[in-house]
Amino acid sequence: MPSEDQLSLFDTSGISESTTAQPQALELIPTSAKIPIPAGTYQTMAQMAEHCNQCYRCQLGETRTNAVVGRGNLQAPIMIVGEAPGQNEDEQGKPFVGKSGQLLDKILASVQLDTEQDVYIANINKCRPPANRVPTPDEIAACKPYLLEQIRMVDPKIILLTGATAVKGLTGDKRGITKIRGTWIEWEGRLCMPILHPAYLLRNPAREAGSPKWLMWQDIQAVRAKLDEIRSSPG
Ligand code: URA
Repeated sequence: MPSEDQLSLFDTSGISESTTAQPQALELIPTSAKIPIPAGTYQTMAQMAEHCNQCYRCQLGETRTNAVVGRGNLQAPIMIVGEAPGQNEDEQGKPFVGKSGQLLDKILASVQLDTEQDVYIANINKCRPPANRVPTPDEIAACKPYLLEQIRMVDPKIILLTGATAVKGLTGDKRGITKIRGTWIEWEGRLCMPILHPAYLLRNPAREAGSPKWLMWQDIQAVRAKLDEIRSSPG
């Protein structure tokens, strides 16, 4: 006769059927760009961040201090996608915390959008490219599954793509940013707007009509208006 102890090994109370994809063998996933990261791999951003910090899918993993995953509200209606971390971001492990980030926060505040409340901010690449060079197509491809997971988890109503690398990295659209900024484009059923990169505005401080700052002001007002429209539409 089995003892009570042995029988308790077969106690099934508290065991339930899993309905979401289990992240099996997670430790294997980020080690090579040849290993795909299927949609639904991550249940939380924290889990993904842990992986990004162990990731060597591209060579940027070898020089990072911290992987830079995201900041802001994980349920935000607006997601902002930048290019890649710079030095400040690499040191602090948060996107857009240097001069560009301070300007981005001001741009958002100008239309009463709060960085902690209304937006979630991420980048195409999670690790800093040496000397802040533009990430290569291979580096972008290696990191893209993480961005797709972020978009899936945050499920934003609007995605803002800052600069040409963000536009090309997410949508594949190779048009110049000055051509497509301020226009709504649809990507995978989601509403996206390319906008100028804040770093470009820092290099071009003019404010007259037609200047980069002026164009940004037009675009961010259009974004605010679209968010208000979405929020007030039924369903
Ligand atoms: N520029 C970016 O594109 N991303 C950052 O996180 C910082 C600067």
